[in-house]
Amino acid sequence: MSILFDKERETFFLETEHSCYQFRITRHGTLQHLYYGRPVGETCMDYLTRFADRGFSGNPYECRHDRTFSLDLLPQEYSSFGMGDHRVPALKTVLENGSRTAELRYLSHEILPGKLCPEGLPHVRQGHSACETLVVRLFDEVSGLTVKLFYSIFPAEDVIVRSAQIINGSGQKIVLEKAASASIDFPCGQWDLIHFAGRHCMERQPERAALGHHVLSVGSSRGMSSHHNNPFVILCDREVTEDSGDCYGFMLMWSGNHRAEAELDQAGGVRLVMGIHEDGFSWLLEPGESFRTPELILTYAAGGLNALSHNCHRLLRENVCPPEFRHSRRKVLLNNWEATYFDFDTDKILSIAAQAKDLGVDLFVLDDGWFGQRSDDKAGLGDWFVNEKKLPGGLARLGSALNGMGLDFGLWIEPEMVNEDSDLYRAHPDWALRDPGRAPMVARDQLVLDMGRTEVREYLFGCIDRLLKEAPICYLKWDFNRSVANLFSSALPAERQGETATRFMLGTYALLFRLREAHPGVMIEGCAGGGGRFDAGMLFFCPQIWCSDNTDAVQRLRIQKGTSYGYPVFTMGSHVSAVPNHQTGRSVPLGTRAVVALSGTFGYELDPGKLTGAEKAAVRDQIAVFHKYSELIRSGRYYRLDRTEAEEGFTAWAFVSEDRCEALVSVVDTNVEGNPRFHHILLKGLVPDAVYRLEGSDRRFSGAALMYGGYTLPQMFGDYPAAMLHFAADHNAAYDE
Ligand code: DGJ
Repeated sequence: MSILFDKERETFFLETEHSCYQFRITRHGTLQHLYYGRPVGETCMDYLTRFADRGFSGNPYECRHDRTFSLDLLPQEYSSFGMGDHRVPALKTVLENGSRTAELRYLSHEILPGKLCPEGLPHVRQGHSACETLVVRLFDEVSGLTVKLFYSIFPAEDVIVRSAQIINGSGQKIVLEKAASASIDFPCGQWDLIHFAGRHCMERQPERAALGHHVLSVGSSRGMSSHHNNPFVILCDREVTEDSGDCYGFMLMWSGNHRAEAELDQAGGVRLVMGIHEDGFSWLLEPGESFRTPELILTYAAGGLNALSHNCHRLLRENVCPPEFRHSRRKVLLNNWEATYFDFDTDKILSIAAQAKDLGVDLFVLDDGWFGQRSDDKAGLGDWFVNEKKLPGGLARLGSALNGMGLDFGLWIEPEMVNEDSDLYRAHPDWALRDPGRAPMVARDQLVLDMGRTEVREYLFGCIDRLLKEAPICYLKWDFNRSVANLFSSALPAERQGETATRFMLGTYALLFRLREAHPGVMIEGCAGGGGRFDAGMLFFCPQIWCSDNTDAVQRLRIQKGTSYGYPVFTMGSHVSAVPNHQTGRSVPLGTRAVVALSGTFGYELDPGKLTGAEKAAVRDQIAVFHKYSELIRSGRYYRLDRTEAEEGFTAWAFVSEDRCEALVSVVDTNVEGNPRFHHILLKGLVPDAVYRLEGSDRRFSGAALMYGGYTLPQMFGDYPAAMLHFAADHNAAYDE
């Protein structure tokens, strides 16, 4: 049993294999958080709480002569605004009379087998995992508001999935101004917050900040999870390294506006609140209506950031990504975007495809420009009908020609967008989000469709379903190329306009649910101008996401490494592109470009006709390497090996098989110096007393030697040199001297 309720102490014990989470019902009916961290046996952690009378921290009425009980000081389970907890709240409500107070007291609870799945939202799937769910009901007597807190415990995965449902059980209207997925209070400690910031072409760069007496808030109000701040944050002990220390991961299953807020309070406690961003958000609850928040994945690791990443990677692979693609080898694809941009016709595409096939590519992806009047990025979005001038005979003819060559066929779309210069916009201008009487904010010459509207989704489903039926398409690249502004829906009344951004995201999810159900075999790769929507919400539908529009291998090292803190390598779309690189102008050797792309879904984004004979031979070898190691890369544990601070200009990482018998190490030197030092790496995750053989040599090493003594690489010369080393356990061998 992973959930226990101790009646005598009125305390909940939630246990995973390597973590424990406790909270209790206080004598005044509030929920007090007690502990989250390493398992502590059966000890109830209530002894940690000391009560004191602190000035300016008030007391609930029923205990006003006991000045030591204050909601302002006690760690809470789900903080609400108005009753004297002056830290960041999880819940903000407005009643009809204007009151903004919510006072939540325990009402009841139940412990259910399995995982409850929130309707219409991406969620953690139970899959083959053991799981129990605790539902706690809280009630506000004055307003009639009920809040249900959900806790699904995945013991083997060391994961707790939290979410909340706010139900209006009153006879009046209640407006939600904020409804976070969860809040959690840590009573003491010295904490850092790590978050993943960036920009277009430079996504998910880790930033680590010490928490002080302020609210550290990171999020996105761009209508998308964004290039700028990812909905994944880590709270960790100040001493945490890649390989040691307490750390907690918080990953929101939501692809729209989001925010994480961390606050150090007057008593030395830290609160983290995470959920949908409250800027521009409101949700009207008529009597009887309810609102369900997205799920928040919580995971704890005592062994540092690598261990925390392993928890996230395993959960996303086994319990989030679509099961159809969980264990399948990814197809090596070639995408024509950087090869042709908008300038292509059937002959050019088939010529590129034939050469790609000859190199060993499995899947040809036709990118932007095949539809409507799309000769550049100013027109055509929304008109999802093939441009017969470019592609006579349409997608069916192209698809069958590709299939005839032995290639699968993939197609680019950007369903949530529309150009003003499109038949769709001319017919339905009200389908785009825009404020009445105001010129819209444009970006890349496009507007955003109101995905909350049923007729918009019907149109898009009809178009995509038709495309998938008329041509043999097995892959869609689902793009999204601007931030959302002008959050006004012509289909909603004034009092519901604050719901537009949330309904937009729910609408996109509804379309994705329907398409996945109608076409379960079609792989959808997520994309948003590269990695602008790289989050657990999209991964629920899309087993891989284009990691960045920046295909420069040297910069990709940083982008993919930053992404790896939360997300597994096999979800990161990564291609070998041409040099000089189109984003940076840099030239990186073909071999190094492949080493970097191999730590991703792997594919090419170039014109193979421009490769030399030697380069073509190298590409064939790279594809062979992919086939050889794809299972290890997909299912192995990923370790960041380099000590970035000390070894600037050198990046190393490894995949270690689950049985720890195999390790694939990749290294790239991005800063070769004169009289170069030898780079030295310490392997991780091996069996100390197993013997490993280095492929291509006679050397054998104990796991302990490779982990504690390490391995010294030969000097590396040239522009951005790279190497891959494969170690395999050799059970019959003796140690080398
Ligand atoms: C942005 C994507 O990230 C690119 O790969 C490409 O598909 C373009 N959009 C096409 O417009």
